[in-house]
Amino acid sequence: MDPLQTQEDSSKKSNKPKYSKFTQQELPACKPLLTPAIVISAFLLVGILFVPIGLASLSASQEIVELIDRYDTNCVPMADKVGFIQNSKTDKSCTRTLTVPKHMRSPIKIYYQIGDFYQNHRRYVKSRSDKQLRYKDAAHLTKDCEPEGYRADGAPIVPCGLIAWSLFNDTYTISVNKKSIEVNKKDIAWQSDKNKKFGSDVYPSNFQNGNLIGGAKLNESIPLSEQEDLIVWMRTAALPTFRKLYGRIETDIMANDQLTVVIQNNYNTYSFGGSKALVLSTTSWIGGKNNFIGIAYLIVGGLCLFLALVFVALYMIKPRTLGDPSFLSWNRGPIAHWTMLQSFSVSCIAHLKE
Ligand SMILES: *[C@@H]1O[C@H](CO)[C@@H](O)[C@H](O)[C@H]1NC(C)=O
Repeated sequence: MDPLQTQEDSSKKSNKPKYSKFTQQELPACKPLLTPAIVISAFLLVGILFVPIGLASLSASQEIVELIDRYDTNCVPMADKVGFIQNSKTDKSCTRTLTVPKHMRSPIKIYYQIGDFYQNHRRYVKSRSDKQLRYKDAAHLTKDCEPEGYRADGAPIVPCGLIAWSLFNDTYTISVNKKSIEVNKKDIAWQSDKNKKFGSDVYPSNFQNGNLIGGAKLNESIPLSEQEDLIVWMRTAALPTFRKLYGRIETDIMANDQLTVVIQNNYNTYSFGGSKALVLSTTSWIGGKNNFIGIAYLIVGGLCLFLALVFVALYMIKPRTLGDPSFLSWNRGPIAHWTMLQSFSVSCIAHLKE
């Protein structure tokens, strides 16, 4: 019988907690012994796993063909950019020609990339009404949308709020070697957003009707669940420079083909110093072009292999004989000091346990 248990039995008033392995800290514990063999094989294993993963991701990323064309500076007159873009009578179309460097396999994704646009600003992110986007009867729930909640005469704006109001409105028409090709704009939004967040019986109304136009207008005969440009835009970006999917090209484009893009340069990024670019990119299993994950895997894997080699070398040149106390002396370098500190603390703990 446990001594604590008997004590408790004899004096019922005792405050002592009931004996358990938990309160007495006697739970079974894992105390791995880091022998050289275990340490070296652990490092080797990580290295052998990570280096190939890194190489595979890096080569996948290298194979992605990406064309980026920043057009905002070239598509407006030098003198008065803001005046030009705000004047609804000026012709905003702008033709860009690009040469494709490498064979681009379909599907080719078309993105617009906006720079220095803080879609993550707190006041902006909150300026929407999810209930209103989802339910037909919730049009009046525009509490968070001010100043884009109600029209001057009191009718609610659907979709309300600053995010919807500032919807991107540049358009692109693309031709390859002077032959126009189709840009598929179906299924550019998340399926879950279309099914669960935007109502199929909610139609835009009173949208973009004030005297300050923030961006694109919406077709009032199409329900919100099918306004995919809006759905893409409403999933706000976390960083000030972001890309959003515009559409897809479903034919291959060959190397050295001439791409002609006619841009309707409507969106005003000039008054806040933002930038705009058109991005065409192929995709692979790692997504778009990004070397980071491959490089990170290579660095970690390489370091582990290197450490494994260093430990093998140390172990072969100068193994520590078991039970040899001479390694404890202070003049044997930093490793000895560290080991000494460790064995000191181990013996302290052993002492305390007694
Ligand atoms: C596009 O958006 C800008 C604001 O960024 C607005 O001034 C302009 O009237 C809009 N144009 C069209 C055609 O929707």
